[in-house]
Amino acid sequence: MSLPQQVKIVEVGPRDGLQNEKESIPAEIKIALVDQLTAAGFQNIEAASFVSPKWVPQMATSAEVMAGIQRKAGVVYSVLTPNMKGFEAALAAGADEVVIFSSASEAFAHKNINCSIEESIERFRDVAAAAKQHKLRLRGSISCSFGCPYQGDVPVSSVTDVVRRMRDLGCDEIDIADTIGVGTARQVQQVMQSAAQEFAIGGLSGHFHDTYGQALANIYASLEVGISIFHSSVAGLGGCPYAKGATGNVSTEDVLFLMQGLGIHTGIDLNAVVDAGQFISQHLGRKAVSRAGNAIAAKRSA
Ligand code: HMG
Ligand code: MG
Repeated sequence: MSLPQQVKIVEVGPRDGLQNEKESIPAEIKIALVDQLTAAGFQNIEAASFVSPKWVPQMATSAEVMAGIQRKAGVVYSVLTPNMKGFEAALAAGADEVVIFSSASEAFAHKNINCSIEESIERFRDVAAAAKQHKLRLRGSISCSFGCPYQGDVPVSSVTDVVRRMRDLGCDEIDIADTIGVGTARQVQQVMQSAAQEFAIGGLSGHFHDTYGQALANIYASLEVGISIFHSSVAGLGGCPYAKGATGNVSTEDVLFLMQGLGIHTGIDLNAVVDAGQFISQHLGRKAVSRAGNAIAAKRSA
C-alpha cells in the first residue's frame, strides 16, 4: 500500500505534554505556547484538560488558558473531558472538540479515571450526547492499546472492544494510544488493522509515546497500513501522571522531519515548531527532547 499523501498532526504538547510537569507553569506561558503552535499551522491543538485538579493539578488553569489563546478560524482546539463536569467547563471555555478517554486495560482505567472501562463508557454517554447537542466534535482516546504498566500485555480484542464502544457513542475520531511507549511496528500494524475493522481508518489516529524509542518506527508502520492522523508533542514534552516512567509523546519536530522527508504534506511550518519547542524548553529549564528540533536549533546558531 502506498503511503498517504497528507496527514493531520494533532499537537498535544500543551495538554499531554505539560500535564506531567511538577512545577506549576503560569497560564500565560501555556497561552504563548498555544499561540505559537497556532501560528505554526496546526489544524488541531489539544490545548487543555478539564479534569479534577486534585488528580492533575497542572491542568487547573485550563479555563484561563482557553480564555487567553488567540484562536485562528478553522483550527480545532480540543480539551479532555472525563465527565459532565468537565464537559460543562469545556463548553463554557468554547472548546471545539471534547475528548473522552478510557483504556484498553482495566487496571489502567482504575488508576487514571477511577472506574472500570464499562463504567467509563456509561459515564461518557451523557458527554457524547451533550457534545452532539452542542455540535462539538467528539474524540475518543484509548490508553494502553499496546501494553499497560499495571496489567502488562493487552490483547488486541480489548482494544477493538473499546473502539467499538467509542464508535457507538458517536466519536468522530478515535485515538489508539501507546501510553507507555512499548508498542513495536508489527504489533502496531496488527492493532491498527484490527481497529480499522470497527471504525473508518481515516478517523483512527496513532498517539505514540517514545519511552522505548519506537515512536517514529510505529508511525511509519501506521502509515504503511493507511493511518493518516498522528499525535505529537512539541519538544517531546510530557507523560501521563498515572503511567510511571512513561516519557513524553513523540516530538512534533521529529515527526515533521520524517513527513518532510517522505514528501507527505502536513501544512505545518517545522521551523516555527522548533521555535516553540525552544521557547517552552527554555521556560522549563531543560533541553528539548527532540532530535530534529535540537539539530535544527544547533545548525541555526552554528
Ligand atoms: P473521582 O475522584 O472518582 O471523582 O475522580 P469524583 O466525582 O468523586 O470527584 C472528586 C473531586 O473532583 C470532586 O471535588 C469533584 O467535584 C472534582 P470535591 O467535591 O472533592 O471538591 N471533579 C472535577 N473537578 C474539575 N473537573 C472535573 C471534575 N470531575 C470531578 N471534570 C475523575 C474521577 C475522572 C474526575 C478523575 O479520576 C480525573 O480527573 N482523572 C483524570 C486523570 C487524567 O487527567 N489523566 C491524564 C489524562 S489521560 C492521558 O494522558 C492519556 C492520553 O494522553 C492517551 C494516552 O497516552 O494514553 C489521553
Ligand atoms: Mg498520552
